[in-house]
Amino acid sequence: MSRSDNLYDATPDAIGAAAALLRDGRLVAFPTETVYGLGADATSDRAVAGIYAAKERPSFNPLISHVAELAMARRLGRFGDAAEALAAAFWPGPLTMVLPRTEDCPVSRLASAGLASIAIRLPAHPVAQALLAATGRPVVAPSANRSGQLSPTRAAHVLRSLGQAPAMILDGGACAFGLESTVVGLAGPEPLLLRPGAIAREAIEAVIGPLGRPATNGQGPSPGMMESHYAPAGAVRLGATARRAGEHWLGFGPEAAGADLNLSPSGDPVEAAANLFAMLHALDEAGASTIAVSPVPDVGLGVAINDRLRRAAAPRP
Ligand code: TXA
Ligand code: MG
Repeated sequence: MSRSDNLYDATPDAIGAAAALLRDGRLVAFPTETVYGLGADATSDRAVAGIYAAKERPSFNPLISHVAELAMARRLGRFGDAAEALAAAFWPGPLTMVLPRTEDCPVSRLASAGLASIAIRLPAHPVAQALLAATGRPVVAPSANRSGQLSPTRAAHVLRSLGQAPAMILDGGACAFGLESTVVGLAGPEPLLLRPGAIAREAIEAVIGPLGRPATNGQGPSPGMMESHYAPAGAVRLGATARRAGEHWLGFGPEAAGADLNLSPSGDPVEAAANLFAMLHALDEAGASTIAVSPVPDVGLGVAINDRLRRAAAPRP
């Protein structure tokens, strides 16, 4: 049953209808274990172009192809030993690998934004898996928000940011991780951590050894890492240990007892990651002109949380 024009509970019937829409070149928003994605048939130039238009996304920012099976992933990207080891360790799950495109890769060149590589992810969320299996094609899916805005971790966030742009929004509840996948680059001479995310660097290094850092001049191998990104409507002040006049305070840990919202009262970074975007959305909706955020320790998942917070606080274009 439809709950607004395009918002549906993710029942088997709705997932079947969403798969048919994707095969027909339409856009469908769906839950993953990280954030909601805005999906399109990756093999269709027109459908992929529709994503850039709906998100108002700069066309140089390439997209992740989502697949239901490892066999499909191997048709898209060239798997070396490191890729095989990471797939065995973390798929299905919140890991994206950037690999050289295969010679007969069926994914639109637009999704690679001119690069010779392709980003691939095999998500764990049962709704995402069912949708990808029913579609039978790779599905490109950036986070289902307008470019530069907060990432959506609830179906209502998608509706608020994109309205009726997706033909269908599948509601599968809140996202478990609440933070985008970790992106590892395996298309160059050494493995790189292209985007910190839901799997900590240490966990990946335990499988394939040390990860290098990409160049940060915007010409590096991950063109999507813009300085200002994940931004709420209001300003963001980092490292706050108390609220200043007129501010809303997003706390972390037991010291932030007076905060409006607390990412994790016990100081647990996993809980904080899951709450991050939902709480920024909530303070945005409350009309915060400035959101002051408590310091989060820069270890483990805290690295990815701080990466998102720094971008949310960066000067806007
Ligand atoms: O958790 C996630 O990864 C979510 C869910 C929906 O799966 N998707 C997501 O997509 O965060 P998006 O488009 O917001 O972020 C894709 C990231 C960007 O940083 C982009 O630059 C990078 O992956 N990327 C994609 N293709 C690439 C490529 N060929 N080379 C380097 N970086 C690439
Ligand atoms: Mg995004």
